[in-house]
Amino acid sequence: MVERKPLVAGNWKMNGLRADGLALARGIAERARQRHACELLVCPPATLIAAVGDALAGSGVALGGQDCHAEPKGAFTGGISAEMLQDAGCSHAIVGHSERRHTCGETDADVRAKTLAAWRAGLVAIVCVGETRLEREAGGALAVVAAQLAGSLPDGASADKLVVAYEPVWAIGTGLTPTLRDVAEMHSFIRHQLASRYGEAGQGVRVLYGGSVKPANAKEVLAAENVDGALVGGASLVAGQFLAIAGACRP
Ligand code: PGA
Repeated sequence: MVERKPLVAGNWKMNGLRADGLALARGIAERARQRHACELLVCPPATLIAAVGDALAGSGVALGGQDCHAEPKGAFTGGISAEMLQDAGCSHAIVGHSERRHTCGETDADVRAKTLAAWRAGLVAIVCVGETRLEREAGGALAVVAAQLAGSLPDGASADKLVVAYEPVWAIGTGLTPTLRDVAEMHSFIRHQLASRYGEAGQGVRVLYGGSVKPANAKEVLAAENVDGALVGGASLVAGQFLAIAGACRP
């Protein structure tokens, strides 16, 4: 059996001006000095990556971007390439978050291109998948996620390049979470998909759960079968809550 060390990742989304972002990063860096049974990652808005990277220096907390452009450079106004993230100190990039799939119209093919871009720049891609409420109610959650994985994941993945985040769209920012049974079912389904796609190379790829993870539910969510950590939105904006979630990882 391959060991998968849990990863707890904070996605700050479009939150944080310099002063509060730095205060949050310092609070996380300070608390991260205690030993945790997981790896920690913070994904601030692009404007704060460099400053947050400085604040996190020496803390062992990794730094990531929330998105990247598929191209390395060029005339793409407003775009930020994976190479730029890497250059700013990032080791990870979230790609295909549902807020980008649904509000920016990103397709599986776009997400696949961004994943390849992250790899090209030496970053770990955190590829997000997840069904909408209507899709779940129609009984299509597994099929939707299978199609997203098939379309979004390039060949050649391994544990040091890929993390998958299962984030049911209806659970993001709503306070709603799937039952533990549904979480375990989806995570074991994703594990099977990774195994049949990548064989042994996929065994170490971590599958995170995301969607309203809070200190109050972290312990049970993180203990669910095949859950290898969490992608945390709202609760990652409070250092104490983010670290409480990290502290809930099984040793
Ligand atoms: P949430 O967001 O924890 O605020 O639900 C999770 C996410 O979108 O990654």
